[in-house]
Amino acid sequence: MTARKIFVTTALPYANGNFHIGHIMEYIQTDTWVRAQRMQGAAVNFVGADDAHGAPIMIAAEKAGKTPQQFVADIASGRKQYLDGFHIAFDNWSNTDSPENHALSQQIYLDLKAAGFIETRTIEQFFDPEKNMFLPDRFIKGECPRCHAKDQYGDNCESCGAVYAPTELINPYSALSGARPELKTSEHFFFKLSDPRCVEFLQEWTQDGVHVQPEVAAKIKEWFGTRTNPDGSTSTGLDDWDISRDAPYFGIAIPDAPGKYFYVWLDAPVGYLASLKNLLNQRGEDYEAYMADPALEQYHFIGKDIITFHTLFWPAMLKFSGRKTPTKICVHGFMTVNNGEKMSKSRGTGLDPLKYLALGMNPEWLRYYLGAKLNGRNEDIDFNPEDFMLRVNSDLIGKYVNIASRAAGFIFKRFDGRLGQVSEDGQALLAQLRAQKDGIVAAYEARDTARAARDVMQLCDRVNEYVDANKPWELARKEGMEARLHDVCTTCIEAFRMLTIYLKPMLPQVAADVAHFLIVPPEQFADVERALGAGHQIGQYQHLMQRVEEKQLDALFALPEAVVEKVTPGGEEIAPTITIDDFAKVDLRIAKIAECKAVEGSTKLLQLTLDAGEGRTRNVFSGIASMYRPEQLVGKLTVLVANLAPRKMKFGVSEGMVLAASHADEKTQPGIYVLEPFPGAQPGMRIH
Ligand code: MSP
Ligand code: ZN
Repeated sequence: MTARKIFVTTALPYANGNFHIGHIMEYIQTDTWVRAQRMQGAAVNFVGADDAHGAPIMIAAEKAGKTPQQFVADIASGRKQYLDGFHIAFDNWSNTDSPENHALSQQIYLDLKAAGFIETRTIEQFFDPEKNMFLPDRFIKGECPRCHAKDQYGDNCESCGAVYAPTELINPYSALSGARPELKTSEHFFFKLSDPRCVEFLQEWTQDGVHVQPEVAAKIKEWFGTRTNPDGSTSTGLDDWDISRDAPYFGIAIPDAPGKYFYVWLDAPVGYLASLKNLLNQRGEDYEAYMADPALEQYHFIGKDIITFHTLFWPAMLKFSGRKTPTKICVHGFMTVNNGEKMSKSRGTGLDPLKYLALGMNPEWLRYYLGAKLNGRNEDIDFNPEDFMLRVNSDLIGKYVNIASRAAGFIFKRFDGRLGQVSEDGQALLAQLRAQKDGIVAAYEARDTARAARDVMQLCDRVNEYVDANKPWELARKEGMEARLHDVCTTCIEAFRMLTIYLKPMLPQVAADVAHFLIVPPEQFADVERALGAGHQIGQYQHLMQRVEEKQLDALFALPEAVVEKVTPGGEEIAPTITIDDFAKVDLRIAKIAECKAVEGSTKLLQLTLDAGEGRTRNVFSGIASMYRPEQLVGKLTVLVANLAPRKMKFGVSEGMVLAASHADEKTQPGIYVLEPFPGAQPGMRIH
């Protein structure tokens, strides 16, 4: 049998945010599958890319003051730390704004057009007259036509769940400018999914039991039936798909259609092919020849929210543009954290992948934990801290890692690190382990890593029973049991090597460390058939994996210290506390502004003549010229700091200070306000 040749992708993440744990889960699932294929000898190309186009990214870039290209590049530069961190080994990471994708998307469109699958139609759509652009549903808001909740999105109401067309909103407004959107007509391009050739093909393709999981096929089947439209009418079969958007749009230009761009979901899956082509180009391989091989398999791993695009639009685009259709669409469910709470960044209930790594938590704990939960169906899975600790500490470390730590020491200390002969009972145990190979490989193939993990843990139980029955620590203390000790410990090491091979797709780093310690080359599934054999030299055992500690999980889910917004009244903090005696040192008196004039040579100062009931007046300079004209102040009462040491200024001596209020940040909040007492206060009264 010749080796399988497989092209594998994960969904292309929108380039307007960092990865969250849901993305990481998808990549770990796919990476595990890819590694398992390679351990069977398959030649795999595993590619990803950023999904760069569309209105939300264009608008986010504008807000950030960047070009969309720069915005996407900045997001892309943050990807590596996640992928390396969780041992996810894509062969290539590109983006959908690449030259390869522009060329391929346009060519696929032209091929579809030539085959008669493209049609133009004039449609009415909301237009923002201020932003000068057609508005995507998400950027139109208004009052729900059913429950009258305010500020609902253009496609559905978050308050009552109603689904409607944006034109049904009451008092619609643009979420971009606030302007009232106008209905405007525009010519749009459609992919004729309703074409009988298309319907027939998709019905067969999705329902033949080959290309999608049974639960996914059942869901798709409903879409071919009769459904109710937003306006209450019903329709049957598939609707044509609107594949164009009007400028301004960050996307790929439609050939021979000025101002028209492909809707992001048209060019996004083409990005799979473009990233592959980009990879093959880098290697000097021929993309057309690679794709032309009928034996080539094409696998797309995706989440359950994007099934329509991958099981209707994408296979139809490929089929009717004369291209190879996918071998399988592998759909996974959603990941939730802490008992199914919807992950929310703002509430901090999610699992921040970078925080996980920063806390020094082992990425292979997570790979194993997710692997042990994913079963190849599209069910949601929950990250539960107690469960996580149990699976890692009790299973992975307690059952698997311990086998090596129990046996390796004796081999190293007592037998110079050399393996011995395995006698009959040991051979029987190893044969049991070997016998599970096909089942475990099949579980990986079906993405049922939960079963693979379960099978391996059961085998670990068998090995641990053997250890407990033979008690190497007792053999080590008994006279004349040297040979049996060597035999038992060798059996354990041989078994541990096989178990490591079985776990390798989930635990690539642990497997590499084990290969180093056992002094073996990187191994394939088929290597469980052989044994290291007597005389094989192993290295010194180094602990392979730490246990998860509860405090790590506490730290992982600890909410960031509540950022109590620091309130600084008037732009400055309240001064340190003083006593009443301190305050009493300041003699504040009511004073009447007897005279007031501008100061020649100063734009800031006014010169005040104050009567504080002392039988004489005082001369005081005050920096309030920006706020008051002299005639506004004459005759008013204010507050004077009466016992302030006189100060000699450029324009004369100032005998005190007038109280006035201002913000600490004069630049952004200018203004100075002179204090004035309530009516009845008399010049000379002290302020207590
Ligand atoms: N850009 C599109 C995909 C285009 S593919 C040609 C997109 N991007 S996404 O960033 O929103 O999602 C990327 C992948 O992450 C999807 O497969 C999606 O299902 C998956 N997940 C997003 N949230 C998830 C979880 N909470 N759990 C598991 N996977 C989830 O859709
Ligand atoms: Zn509503």
